Amino acid sequence: MTESDEMLWMVRGVWVSLCLRAACELGVVDALDQPQDLATLATRCSANASTLGRLLRVLVDLGLLSNAEGRYALTTMGAQLSVGHPSGLRHLAMMQTELPNLTAWQHLADAIKRGSAVYKDLNGQTSWEWLASHPAEETVFNAAMARRGAAQVAAVLTAYDFSGVRLVIDVGGGQGAMLGELLTDQPELTGIVADRPEVAASATASLAAAGLGERARGEASDFFVSVPSGGEVYILSNILHDWDDAEAVMILRSVHAAMGPAAELLIVETVLDAPGRTTPEQRDVHLVDLNMLVLFGARERSHSQYDKLLVAGGFEPSSLAQSPNTWNVLLTRRTI
Ligand SMILES: C[S@@+](CC[C@H](N)C(=O)[O-])C[C@H]1O[C@@H](n2cnc3c(N)ncnc32)[C@H](O)[C@@H]1O
Repeated sequence: MTESDEMLWMVRGVWVSLCLRAACELGVVDALDQPQDLATLATRCSANASTLGRLLRVLVDLGLLSNAEGRYALTTMGAQLSVGHPSGLRHLAMMQTELPNLTAWQHLADAIKRGSAVYKDLNGQTSWEWLASHPAEETVFNAAMARRGAAQVAAVLTAYDFSGVRLVIDVGGGQGAMLGELLTDQPELTGIVADRPEVAASATASLAAAGLGERARGEASDFFVSVPSGGEVYILSNILHDWDDAEAVMILRSVHAAMGPAAELLIVETVLDAPGRTTPEQRDVHLVDLNMLVLFGARERSHSQYDKLLVAGGFEPSSLAQSPNTWNVLLTRRTI
C-alpha cells in the first residue's frame, strides 16, 4: 500500500464502520450459518438483492466474507460479528455507531479546543441519561462492556489472591459479566454489582441466569452518593476513566466511605504507561482516550495520574500489578 492508499483508507474509516453496522442490522452475518447465494441471502435479510450485493462486495473486500462462484460464506474474521460470538465485537460495532456517539465524535475538534465533553451539549443529555431512556441500546452497551469480562478477570486474578475473601463489591459492574466470571473461578466468593437501577436489575437477572443467584446480585446505587458497605474487596473496573478528575475523586470518596479499614480496592483500567502493551493495543487505548473526552470530558490516565486521584480520595498510592493482557490492576487501600 502506498502512503496515499493508506491515507485514503483512513479517510474512509467512518464508512467502513457503518458498513459493519449495516451488516449487523441486516442480519447478513447471522444468515450465513452456511454458504448462500445472493438471492437466498437477500430473501433472508429482507433486502433488495442488487443493493445487498454491493454491500457484500465491500464485506468481501474487507475479508469478512468470501465469495466462491456466487456463494457467500463467513470468514473467521467476519464470524466475530455474529450474535453470540465471544468477541462481543458486534455489540461494540453497534454501540459506537449510535447516532449520539457519532454526533459527539463529529465535534472532536471542539472538544479538543474546549478541553471538555461535547456529547451532552449536542445531544441534550448525558450518555448515561440517553442509555437509560433507550433500553435496547442500553442492552447493547452493557453487552459491549461485558465482552471484556474474561480478560479483566484474568488480570484481576493475576494481581490479587482472593483466599479468605467472602464479599466483593463491583462498583459500576454493569450487567455482572466480570463478577460472574470471578465467582465462577472462586467458589467461596459472594458478590454485589452496584450500578444504576436498570443496570443493577439486569445484573441480578444475568447472575441468576448464570446459576449464581444464591451468591450474587445487583444493587441499585449512585456511586456519587453511596455504594454498598461490608465488602472486603471493592472493584472499580473501567469507571474512573469515564469521569474527570473532580468526579473521579467523588466516586473514590463514596467507595472510601463504604470500605472498612482492612478492605482493599482494585482499580481495573488500561493504564497509559503500563508496560507490555502491543502497538495496536496502545493505539486502541489512545483512541478510547479520545472517546472518553468527547463523551464525558474524561480520559485515560497514567499510573501517577491515578495515584493523584487515589491520594485525593483518601487512598494509598497504588501498586501496579503485572498483567497477562491489556488490562491493568491497581491495588490500594485506605490511608485513613
Ligand atoms: C464503562 S462501564 C464499565 C462496566 C464494567 N465495570 C466494565 O468494566 O466493563 C461504566 C459503568 O458505570 C455505570 N454508572 C454510570 N454512572 C453511574 C452512577 N452514577 N452510579 C453507579 N453506576 C454508574 C454504568 O451503568 C456502567 O455500567
